[in-house]
Amino acid sequence: MKPFTRLAKAGVLGMNSRNLDFIAAYNPRRYYPLVDDKIITKKLAIEAGVTVPEQFGVIRYGGEINIIERIAKKRASFVVKPSRGSGGGGIMVFNGLAKTGLRRMNGQITPWADVKYHISNMLSGMFSMGDGSDSVLIEERLVPHSAFSKLAFGGVPDVRVIVFRGIPVMAMLRLPTAESDGKANLHQGGVGAGIDLVTGITTRGVQHNDSVDLHPDFETPVRDFQVPAWPEILELASRLGHHIGLGYVGVDIVICEHKGPTLLELNARPGIAIQTANLRGLRPLLMPVHKLPSVPEDVHERIEICKANWRGEPLDRFIAPGDEV
Ligand SMILES: Nc1ncnc2c1ncn2[C@@H]1O[C@H](COP(=O)(O)OP(=O)(O)O)[C@@H](O)[C@H]1O
Ligand SMILES: [Mg+2]
Repeated sequence: MKPFTRLAKAGVLGMNSRNLDFIAAYNPRRYYPLVDDKIITKKLAIEAGVTVPEQFGVIRYGGEINIIERIAKKRASFVVKPSRGSGGGGIMVFNGLAKTGLRRMNGQITPWADVKYHISNMLSGMFSMGDGSDSVLIEERLVPHSAFSKLAFGGVPDVRVIVFRGIPVMAMLRLPTAESDGKANLHQGGVGAGIDLVTGITTRGVQHNDSVDLHPDFETPVRDFQVPAWPEILELASRLGHHIGLGYVGVDIVICEHKGPTLLELNARPGIAIQTANLRGLRPLLMPVHKLPSVPEDVHERIEICKANWRGEPLDRFIAPGDEV
């Protein structure tokens, strides 16, 4: 049976309810630009004391495209992405400078003319949310934590955490595959694995909406994998989710071998496929948090709530006396 069929009766959150009950109700529109633009998000995260990939440069106009050559000579390994992109669209991950161009994660060389043509397409807004042109962000390439050596093909995996009112409610690990070319996005062919929020251990995997037990390139099991630095990941997600003023947000975190948990991006309209990866509906996890009269300022208290909620325990004990509705 397809995972989605089994989910139907398990409180699965549909696109309409996600949009109306949670995104519209909890995400003031004025905050969207903060998370829709990766250059702004980066500044915001630094403000909140969260680690981000180092920014090497920004290309805003066609006349600035040659900046890429300067950066490539100095850095060799970096990522080029549309600042308001989504779903991995347009992103190029490079790990070396060759005579004729730049080396991609799959070993192929992209000639300079193609690199520049691609950047001008990104500037035109071809891969970006909203209308109009975009800026191109060039940033440090994060290196996956060594624990992923047999689970991430040619790129970095990331952890998506759905944070509601500053409380993590669901998470999944996304693993790049040969097919997804250095990117971990599910619609690029990445594998999604559900994560037990309490332990940080993966529970099951999906690719293209079908259950998978093994990573397609390594044939290593995708379940029962302990995500490294799990307590820090929960804390980063909760801290940032609380800081930015968006009630319902997807926080994407890379566990970098050198920098530890690092914020990749925030998403004001996180997808609902995370439910398929966890074989668990979002609604039963969101409702108890929705009903809390207030949430604690202290990040560790919010994480206690997150764990109790994941275990299905009632949240009454977290309601402060005098705070009842
Ligand atoms: N700095 C980086 N270092 C290494 N890989 C990256 C970096 N930025 C993005 N990627 C890869 O590309 C994917 C998509 O990047 P992301 O910044 O989340 O953009 P999008 O909004 O398009 O999803 C990530 O999941 C990751 O696999
Ligand atoms: Mg992303």
